[in-house]
Formats: sequence, structure tokens, C-alpha cells
Amino acid sequence: MARRLAFALLPPLAFAAFVRPAAAEDKPPYLDAARPVEERVEDLLKRLTLDEKLLLVHADSKFTTAPIPRLSIPQRWLSDGPHGVREDIGPHDWRPAGRTDDFATALPAGVALAATWNADLARAYGETIGQEALARGKHIILGPAVNIHRTPLNGRNFEYFGEDPFLASRMVVPWIRGIQSQDVAACVKHYALNNQEWERGTIDVQVDERTLREIYLPAFEAAVKEGGVLAVMGAYNRFRGQHACHNEYLLNTILKGEWGFKGLVMSDWSGTHDTREAARNGLDLEMGTDRPYDQFFLARPFRDLLDKGEVPLSLLDDKVRRNLRVMLETKVLDGRPPGALNTKAHQETARRVAEEAIVLLKNDGTLLPLDASKLRTLVVIGENAVRPHSHQGGASEMKTPYEVTPLEGIAKRLRATKVMHAMGYKSGAWSPDNPPGHPDPETLVARAVEGARQADVAIVVGGLNHERFQDAEGMDRKDLSLPGLQAELIRRVAEANPRTVVVLVSGGPVDMETWLTKVPAVVQAWYPGMEGGDALAAVLFGDVNPSGRLPATFPKKLGDSPAHALGAYPGKGGTVRYEEGLLVGYRWYDAKGIEPLFPFGHGLSYTTFEYANLRVERPREPAAGRPPVAVVRVDVKNTGPRAGAEVVQVYVRPVAPRLPRPPQELKGFAKVLLAPGEKKAVAVTLGAEAFAFYDPAKKAWVAEAGEFRLLAGSSSRLIRLEAPFALEATATLAR
Ligand code: BGC
Repeated sequence: MARRLAFALLPPLAFAAFVRPAAAEDKPPYLDAARPVEERVEDLLKRLTLDEKLLLVHADSKFTTAPIPRLSIPQRWLSDGPHGVREDIGPHDWRPAGRTDDFATALPAGVALAATWNADLARAYGETIGQEALARGKHIILGPAVNIHRTPLNGRNFEYFGEDPFLASRMVVPWIRGIQSQDVAACVKHYALNNQEWERGTIDVQVDERTLREIYLPAFEAAVKEGGVLAVMGAYNRFRGQHACHNEYLLNTILKGEWGFKGLVMSDWSGTHDTREAARNGLDLEMGTDRPYDQFFLARPFRDLLDKGEVPLSLLDDKVRRNLRVMLETKVLDGRPPGALNTKAHQETARRVAEEAIVLLKNDGTLLPLDASKLRTLVVIGENAVRPHSHQGGASEMKTPYEVTPLEGIAKRLRATKVMHAMGYKSGAWSPDNPPGHPDPETLVARAVEGARQADVAIVVGGLNHERFQDAEGMDRKDLSLPGLQAELIRRVAEANPRTVVVLVSGGPVDMETWLTKVPAVVQAWYPGMEGGDALAAVLFGDVNPSGRLPATFPKKLGDSPAHALGAYPGKGGTVRYEEGLLVGYRWYDAKGIEPLFPFGHGLSYTTFEYANLRVERPREPAAGRPPVAVVRVDVKNTGPRAGAEVVQVYVRPVAPRLPRPPQELKGFAKVLLAPGEKKAVAVTLGAEAFAFYDPAKKAWVAEAGEFRLLAGSSSRLIRLEAPFALEATATLAR
């Protein structure tokens, strides 16, 4: 219709120009970007031979699939993820490809992004990776990674968004929308229940249905339903006996059936184990299997089954459709924009995320923020003060143009202060194969203590790194302890100089029992990416007021955390039973009355906030869409001397639920920036889903009528105001 109208209005000359030249007329429908994607998919599908179809469902190198030049289908490039665009690997082994043009912006780790509680930053994070992926010629980025922190020991927690399904869901959606706005597909991983690295390729996870739905799936569900994610990566582990990469229930029933996922499911690298299951149970793209490419499960062996008529061709067609759909949705056949790599804007995003991620865990007295003008001498202690991290970490490793270390960031920030560095501890320094002449651990501590004695202030930058059994892929931590003599180092430095700040670089909690009371200030910096040192300095010297909040509980001791308290980690005889059920993270501590070291949602500021006037409104129903059920409003005032951001957290507490429920659950939050003295009315909207639980009998989410308390606070344990709320009608939520 619009076209015909245009004809009518065009003068004769313009009409001539409108007629497409013969070549364009010949363009097959699938190459016509103006046509609907589904039409193009069907057109392309029918042009593919059987062998060409098979090429689209498995890899032809470590991170690519084969091109089909006859049909203008390019080689498709996948890349890790999730903290930026990884350097090129392979093609046929895990060695770096040795290019010189594959440096990229290293953003802070996933757990750090979650600690910002800022969805706008998640969007910027996704956009940044999208632009860099375009510039690097990548079509699919293997991220975000959203497995729930079930145990603080999981070696990959640093990549994930913490222990809470609601927080993870709110952060994953903008991440995905951001990257996909750049015509690059996100691949959310690892679906599902990959909550430990121990025996990750074989472990069988047994978890009840409600816990699966309420704790482990929501971030994936939000990625699919709200984020419109185009790809999903299966996990290594098994679920109820079957590998997650070809798990009938997870992939066919839930992901593609209930959630209506139309994109592609890829395997994790070497996560495919069986041709029949891969063919039937929803795997659409096989990657990384340790065999010749034509022997991949979805290559020749799949073809054999098709030839024998053991599986129908429609199964292959469905997989191909999904691969083509992702290609066409991301304009792979239409020409994508050039993108941009390592821009100032990207570095700025990396820095903003790092700044907002930093959590001020403890600040007794007034040591922080440090006053640069009054510091004559400063000693910065610790290997992590001078150690970059972005280039390590397994799949998430990055090749960065630079990484500002904490020492560099701090030294840059200071003009007239003498800055000293003492190593204090060194990874591997306690190893028996210590090279001769290398200072032994005791000497490192003694030198640092000497430095602390001479300085006005000591900053110990410790924590973990990406070496084996720390924050590392393929293995879990063995316990919460700080490696080597770090705990002793902190104690002795603090004795020598009471003005000691501890900065922890890590993906999660560490044991602080023997030193926490001896130091006035502790800062959690996570893995802050390549702008991390500047971000840290900005927080330490008060240029930035910290506003990060913990996305996971920090326990006093490992045995307090649910899976460990129950002896339900790492499993026995190849099976791990999630015996804590719904009581993951703060849900457990709250239910059992265990005091955490630092609770979920905790984070201090250099200013103070006052909450007043909590009110709950029942909005009138809008004409369409799922109506909000309650709007929680609270006035938040900055009562201190500095501008700062508060994260208002809204928890819902069911008063007398029919089925057992966690005492309180995060269901909304808002981050609000306030000038000194400024007051804002903060509104958090709750839909019916905020009150709902998964009813296994009804196989549905149900919000049951009844009494609730709505809590507004600065952490899960610092509830400032609360109000009763009655849900009047029971609602079964539509899928
Ligand atoms: C990891 C994935 C990663 C893939 C490709 C696997 O070992 O589990 O997260 O995307 O390798 O590097």
C-alpha cells in the first residue's frame, strides 16, 4: 500500500529510478533485507542441500562454522565473552591465533556489573561489546553468563551475576538488548545448573522443580522472554541424568516449548555427547567437540541417522532455521555496520562500571575517603596492587591494550605524596620450587610491615587471582581462605599502622575472620577490568562516592553457607543434590537466622541516607499488558555532606504462605543519585510476579491472595521501612 502511494506521488523521472535494475530483480528473496525474516529463512532453507544444512549445525574450527559461498553465507564467527571480545583463538587448538589486531576493551567481570545494581550500565556494557564485536568481525558473543552463585567456592562465580535470580534477571535483559542493538547476537550461558566447576562435565544435578523454576531459571527466562536473546549455550553438567546440552526437559520442554525460544541452542565446547540426543533434544549448533569436524555428533553421525530414517529431516530443518534466523536477525547477509574498537567511550564505560561496582564493605571512623592533600607518604602493599587480571580467567580472558593496576591508578591520582610499593605476598611464593634469590613469604611480609610503619596510610590490595583453585575456570576454590600469608600480612600491617585500608580483588567472599576487626576500612573491588586502577583510586580518594552493593552474601565462614552447611557440595558418586532447595544465598541466612559477615545488598557510602514516608499504592489497571499490582514509594534524602547514590531495595515477605517460602525476596530496586540535602521520591513497581511462587502441582506461577509485608531498605538486613499489603485476588500467571 505504502509503495503504491509512493508511485502515485512520484514524478516520471523518479519513477524511472524507482524501477530496480535487472540484477536486483534477480536477487533471491532471502537476500532482500526488506522482506520479513521468516520469509527469508524459508527461502534460504529450501535452497540448501542436505550437506550444506549439516554444515550449519556444527563447527568447522574452534570458533567458526563453515561458509557456504554459493549462497553468500559467510563463515560465522563466535567469540567469548562475557567481559569483552576475547582475542582470536585457534583455529584448531586453544592457542592464541597470534594476531596483532585483536586487542579489545576489558570490562569489569560479570559479578562486578551485578554489584552496580544499575541496569543502564548493563545496557552500556552490552552495547560496548556489540560495537567491538562488529569491529572484530564476530557474529555471536558467548555471554552474558548468569549461573547463580550456589556456593562461594565456584571457580566461575566472578563471571556470574550473583546469588539472586531477580537481580540477575534485571541485569541480563539490558545487557542482551544492548549487544543485540548492534546486530550482534548474545549467547546467554550456561543453561542450566552449572553451579560448580568440580566435575563440571559429568556431575548430575538433582534439584526439585520449584527450586529449578524459582532460583536457577529466572535469569535465563528473562533473557529469552524480555531480552529476546538470540542464542543460548547449554551447560556441561547433567540435569536429572541427561547432559544439559541435549536435555529434553530443559531445551525442548521449557526453553523452546514453554518460553517459545526461536533462536539457536549451541553446545558448550565439548559439551555434546550423543548424536540421537543432540538430534532430538534441541541442540542446534555443536561446538568444540574433540574430534575431526566431520565426525562431530551433528555432522556425519547425524547424517547417518537421517539416511537411515532414524530421525526425520524436519529435525535438521528446525535446527537450520534457527541458525539462519539468528544470522538474518543480526543482518549477517545484509552488511553490518563497521563497529568500533577500543574507543574512549568504551573505556569510559569500563571505568564507570568499575566505579559503581566497588563495594565499601567497612568504613569505621573517617579513614576513607583519603584526603590526598594530607598524605605525605603512602604505602601500597600486595601483588594485586601491581597485577593485571583481565588476560586470565579461562574463557573470559581478554587481550587488552592496557590495564591500569591499583598502584598505577593511585600513583596517578597523587601529586605531592610519596608512594611506595611492597609486594607483601606473591602468588606461588610459598611454592617449594621458589626460584633461588626470590624473597620468601616471610621476608615479603616483613618488608611490607616496615613500609607500613613509615607511611601515613597503608593500602593492602589482596584477594584472589585467576590461577588454579582461585577464581578459575574448570576448578573450584578449596575454601574461603586468602592464599598464602595474606591474612597474616594484613594483621601485621594493621598492627604497624592502624590507618590501613584493605582492598579485595576477587569474584566473591574471602575469609576475614582473623583480621576484619583490626582494620578500619575494607573495599571490595571485584575484577574491575582495564580501567580498574583509576576507578579504585577515584573511590579511595573520594572523587567517586561508592555505590556498589553486594550481589551475593559474604558469610562469616564457609559452613554457614547453605550447600556447605548441608554437606550438599560438591556431591557424591557423580551426583549433587541441591538439598537447600529454595534457600540459596540470603534466603538461607534469613530462614536459619544466621548472621552473615556482610549481607546481600550491603554497601556503604561516604554520605548517609534517610528513608521516610513509605506508602504503597494500588495503581489503576492499565488497558493492556500485565498490570502493576503495587507501587512502593519512599522518600530518600541524602543527609550527609557529599553527593551519593543509594540503592533502594524492595523485598517481599509473605506473611502466611500456603507452601513454604523464603522469608523475604528481592523483587524491585532503584538506584538514585542524590546531591547533599536532596530528597527524592523513589518508586518501585511490583507486578503480580513479585508475589508469585512456582506451584509444582499446577505447573505454573501463582500469586496467591493473602497478606504480605513490603520492605524497603539499604540491604537485605538493613530494612528501613515496611508496610503491610494484601493481595486481594489469586492469579495464575500466563507463561
Ligand atoms: C566455557 C564457555 C566458553 C567456551 C568457549 C567453555 O569451556 O565453559 O563458557 O564460552 O569454553 O571458550
